[in-house]
Amino acid sequence: MNNKKDLILVLDFGSQYTQLIARRIRELRVYSLIEPCTVSTDKIKKIAPKGIILSGGPNSVYEKNAPMPDREILNLNTPILGICYGMQAITHLFKGGIKHTSTREYGRAEMYIDNHHDLFFTLPEKITSWMSHGDTITRLPEGAKKLSHTQQTPYAAFSIPKKKIYGVQFHPEVAHTEYGLQIISNFVFRICGCFPSWQVKNFIQETIAKIRRQAGKDRVICGLSGGIDSSVTALLIHKAIGKNLTCIFVNNGLLRKNEPRQVRKIFKEHFRINLKYVNAAKDFLSKLKGITDPEQKRKIIGYEFIRIFENEAKKIKNVKFLGQGTLYPDVIESVPFFDGPTAKIKSHHNVGGLPKKMKLKLIEPLRELFKDEVREIGKELGLPEKILYRHPFPGPGLAVRILGEIDREKLALIKEVDAKIEKIIKKHGLYKNIWQAFAVLLPLKSVGVMGDKRTYEYVAAVRAVNSLDGMTADWTKLPYKVLEELSSEIINKTQGVNRVVFDISSKPPATIEWE
Ligand code: XMP
Repeated sequence: MNNKKDLILVLDFGSQYTQLIARRIRELRVYSLIEPCTVSTDKIKKIAPKGIILSGGPNSVYEKNAPMPDREILNLNTPILGICYGMQAITHLFKGGIKHTSTREYGRAEMYIDNHHDLFFTLPEKITSWMSHGDTITRLPEGAKKLSHTQQTPYAAFSIPKKKIYGVQFHPEVAHTEYGLQIISNFVFRICGCFPSWQVKNFIQETIAKIRRQAGKDRVICGLSGGIDSSVTALLIHKAIGKNLTCIFVNNGLLRKNEPRQVRKIFKEHFRINLKYVNAAKDFLSKLKGITDPEQKRKIIGYEFIRIFENEAKKIKNVKFLGQGTLYPDVIESVPFFDGPTAKIKSHHNVGGLPKKMKLKLIEPLRELFKDEVREIGKELGLPEKILYRHPFPGPGLAVRILGEIDREKLALIKEVDAKIEKIIKKHGLYKNIWQAFAVLLPLKSVGVMGDKRTYEYVAAVRAVNSLDGMTADWTKLPYKVLEELSSEIINKTQGVNRVVFDISSKPPATIEWE
């Protein structure tokens, strides 16, 4: 069966929720794609979606350069759902009225359903919806019917039945909207008539066959970090071409306690993957000596990684391909429109995209996937829980968690503290509910007293955050009991740390990592 037979196209007008819309559709087992709102109608015709969703966005339709969909898409006879700004853009194009209000409707709003026919089929009379808008529709577009309202918004949803066009002022894609997934499902299945054909199992089979065709008898190399993306990439390529894949695992000395051993054990012994292990800890540490600036640390680590990876890769003969764990968000974020004004805050170093000089062709089996789908595939391929659910870890590793200069003593300390945090969080059954929990070693010592002796030792910070995608994060409200245990376990059992602090900053304005 064709996995992507029916697809929904999401046009991005700059909303922070665009990817979430696309993910929700995939949850319904229908393939979804994201394109910038400037995409041409010709391209849309080639994609041949069964439905189109116009995302929200930060603009107001009356602004000078407000983005608008190509008018022609309104005549494609393809159902369209406009969300928030998308709804206002439709209203504008169909000559409805929009007013800029001084009071923004933001957050939860009780919404009353006026029409249960298709978009709101099976919904109760009243639901909680999530709103985030300044502009409000005051007059329906030509040929439109009202579908719902709130106290502040007379037209919270409408449809133009003749054209199969729908608009909703609220965000059905966010979890705060009750029945949000049901609304999206009504659009995808009832209105667009999609068939749920997107299945991870089919994806695996198709992808393995594709890699086999692509690689032929040539050799492929792949950087393995032990993270979920590179692990799943390696497993898929390995399933396709077996011994013709060589993975290179560079131990930079900045990994978590026991991580190098675990990764080798899993991939070499369990999956029998051709794995080249390079212990380059010394090289990295010597290059980092005396370096305190976070950006410089990141650059040095990135550069050193390429050098070592290339060096090792050269020793393998007949390599024509490089396997990379690029995900769909990386692909769409590299298109200029999607980049938007997001400033570069930290230069992220990933294994992906590095050895450009090597002139290798790329194999990127995860290019179409979101993180949760990669996890699903990993599970299907037998990847152990340890890797599947391991908290995200930055490319530059512990180097950005030891503030200031790095040395062996600090590395040994942070590994111990970090392992203790993981152990205690797991013991309390909190690990899977937390996005990341880890240790940060501060570049300062403080006075303490142990037994009858004065101590002068390092301060460690515990960082724990909840997040959906790492873009924003809340600090985790760990119970006092857990904090108490963390503090006493770390201080009593790590020689060299006599004080523990807990980080209560959210992102923004802080970031998750300290450097
Ligand atoms: P920040 O600190 O920017 O982190 O709030 C957001 C998420 O990204 C991870 N992170 C990185 N991941 N290479 C990576 O692969 C990096 O250089 C890097 N820096 C931060 C961080 O752990 C968090 O999950």
